[in-house]
Amino acid sequence: MLIKEKSPILSSEITDKTIFINRRKIIKAAAGISITSMLPAPASALVKKYAQVPVGPYSGDFKSTAFEDVASYTNYYEFSTNKKDSTVLAKNLKTSPWNITVEGEAEKTGIFNLEDILKANPLEERVYRFRCVEAWSMVVPWLGFPLAAMLKQFKPTAKAKFVEFTTLYDPEVMIGQKSKALGWPYVEGLRIDEAMHPLAFMATGMYDEELPKQNGAPLRLVVPWKYGFKSIKAIVKIRFSETMPGTAWNKMAPSEYGFYANVNPEVAHPRWSQSRERILGASIFTPKRKTEIFNGYGDQVASLYKRMDLSKQF
Ligand code: MTE
Repeated sequence: MLIKEKSPILSSEITDKTIFINRRKIIKAAAGISITSMLPAPASALVKKYAQVPVGPYSGDFKSTAFEDVASYTNYYEFSTNKKDSTVLAKNLKTSPWNITVEGEAEKTGIFNLEDILKANPLEERVYRFRCVEAWSMVVPWLGFPLAAMLKQFKPTAKAKFVEFTTLYDPEVMIGQKSKALGWPYVEGLRIDEAMHPLAFMATGMYDEELPKQNGAPLRLVVPWKYGFKSIKAIVKIRFSETMPGTAWNKMAPSEYGFYANVNPEVAHPRWSQSRERILGASIFTPKRKTEIFNGYGDQVASLYKRMDLSKQF
């Protein structure tokens, strides 16, 4: 991953969490019930498809980055290494019907239709901070469901110590896969206790709409305390394993991208500092934001790593 931009930016307007969540709930309830039923047809059509999805208990109290910025500045090497290109190139990806193959150390393995997985997992909204290893960050209101809820449905066995995720491999559509930018298909993984942590999330949407294709439709991982490359897009396979999976970026450049990849301002990337981050969409005059350990989620996740030397675990 290269840093091409000069760095600027920051501004996250913190609101009291209870007020924020309550306000979101009120807005969403209004959008779903009273306003839609009262509006004339053309106006009600403007209400977003998933406006009624409730805000989940783990959602944060941050001001979201503008949708346009999140949807037009993406890392999706299956299409292009250029952050603007996949917005156009990913339009050719067919995201329905979509199957997920489940393999390995679980009682319920096989091929599952995403529609059925969605029926079993009610949607909620999670506003999360997101920190890319390239030292930029954003805040995204994701829609989806807890990863743990889905994984438990496959009944992992006691031997399942890790879970591996794989992206679709289809070089005719994902034309970036014809290049050697990465080893294909894109693979990511988590230790099983990380995967079962309540903050680990499967996203199917954002900003009250379906996930744009360039942001990983129809199903992507979101792990807010880790660098963004762990948040694998367009997942087609989930494998439970006893051993640590080999992951795409770690295989490509092991000295630069670790398996754990927890956000850590103290551990510099070999080619740049991780102490600060440019906020996506902010003006070039806005100072950079100080990066927080575990991207600010330390209170919730630090105990997962109490036996690890955090100065070395990148
Ligand atoms: N998943 C796949 N399959 N391919 C990718 O190139 N890029 C990763 C991650 N997931 C990537 C991926 C990286 S480096 C980042 S920072 C995030 O997606 C970016 O998510 P976004 O494009 O929705 O902002």
